[in-house]
Amino acid sequence: MIADVSKSSKIVVEKSTVPVKTAEAIEKILTHNSRGIKYQILSNPEFLAEGTAIQDLFKPERVLIGGRETPDGQKAIQALKDVYAQWVPEDRIISTNLWSAELSKLAANAFLAQRISSVNAMSALCEATGADVSQVSHAVGMDTRIGPKFLNASVGFGGSCFQKDILNLVYICECNGLPQVANYWKQVIKINDYQKNRFVNRLVSSMFNTVSGKKIAILGFAFKKDTGDTRETPAIDVCKGLLGDKACLSIYDPQVTEDQIQRDLSMNKFNWDHPIHLQPISPSSVKQVSVVWDAYEATMDAHGVCILTEWDEFKTLDYQRIFDNMQKPAFVFDGRNIVNVDKLREIGFIVYSMGKPLDPWLKDMPAVA
Ligand code: UGA
Repeated sequence: MIADVSKSSKIVVEKSTVPVKTAEAIEKILTHNSRGIKYQILSNPEFLAEGTAIQDLFKPERVLIGGRETPDGQKAIQALKDVYAQWVPEDRIISTNLWSAELSKLAANAFLAQRISSVNAMSALCEATGADVSQVSHAVGMDTRIGPKFLNASVGFGGSCFQKDILNLVYICECNGLPQVANYWKQVIKINDYQKNRFVNRLVSSMFNTVSGKKIAILGFAFKKDTGDTRETPAIDVCKGLLGDKACLSIYDPQVTEDQIQRDLSMNKFNWDHPIHLQPISPSSVKQVSVVWDAYEATMDAHGVCILTEWDEFKTLDYQRIFDNMQKPAFVFDGRNIVNVDKLREIGFIVYSMGKPLDPWLKDMPAVA
């Protein structure tokens, strides 16, 4: 399309996360259709995260621009640098060759996801030994070479990027005859799946080995707070796991619509990536699921509460009121480590919190089925 409409030389900037060497493919297509017009392709990967997008755009830690190492390539890089220099300090704008820029984006996401899988792997060991994962990650993160960010244990990472980008990296490694490297990165995803399974198994085993017919309140469905995005959210796997054991789910998320939740739970894995017109128009709703607009309604008469997204409002709920309206024994399974465990135990809840010393109730119960 660009080749069709171009009347003068163009700089084409690749902003989406793409398989490495996509710029080369774009370049080939454009040069073969160029009719004498010159094209320069730049890779300028996006590093902003959902929920903090505007902040990240205004104050990026770095802007990365990849281009050809020819004089024309360097000129194109400078032109894009001049755009960013309007609001980004020049020492934060770095340039590399095309492939480095494309690969850096995948590598950055893989490293971030790896931190979460590392701390989540530790959370399992903490539960087995009586250590507290928050204390461990605090101590580890004080080392400036490691740093404190992105070390919160959780029920697993989600979102449209991490898994896709790691799989992309794995694919590139395999294509380049590097199966050991591919397996290394695959393990980050495997630990993520393990963590979600572990959470479901903990829940089921502590509730007398079955949740069949029991009402479980799900607080939070989005893949992280401050977004209504549910792509690859760990909530999908946790809810499907519980539905597999015939639980009745009452789901509340401040931003995710009922329609979206029903679609996520009735579709097969990975289908979110299909264009919307290929998805079922009105997926048959999952019967054991109700979606409500209030945390108190969700937890009314429930046997257990699962916190799957770290929404701020879940930190300040009236847990005494929730406890009073629940079946007993009343369980809380905190997949984001946001509740005050001691306070909740004082109220009377049996509390499971990822990577924290276990509630006496949960000791000796198997975490992995
Ligand atoms: C991620 C990267 O952080 C961005 O830099 C990148 O630009 C973006 O992907 C992208 O490729 O477009 P995003 O997916 O929006 O951004 O969200 P993150 O804040 O990275 O969170 C990802 C997942 O990790 C969430 O499910 C979050 O809850 C989880 N997480 C994060 C943890 O479980 N523990 C943590 O300590 C941090």
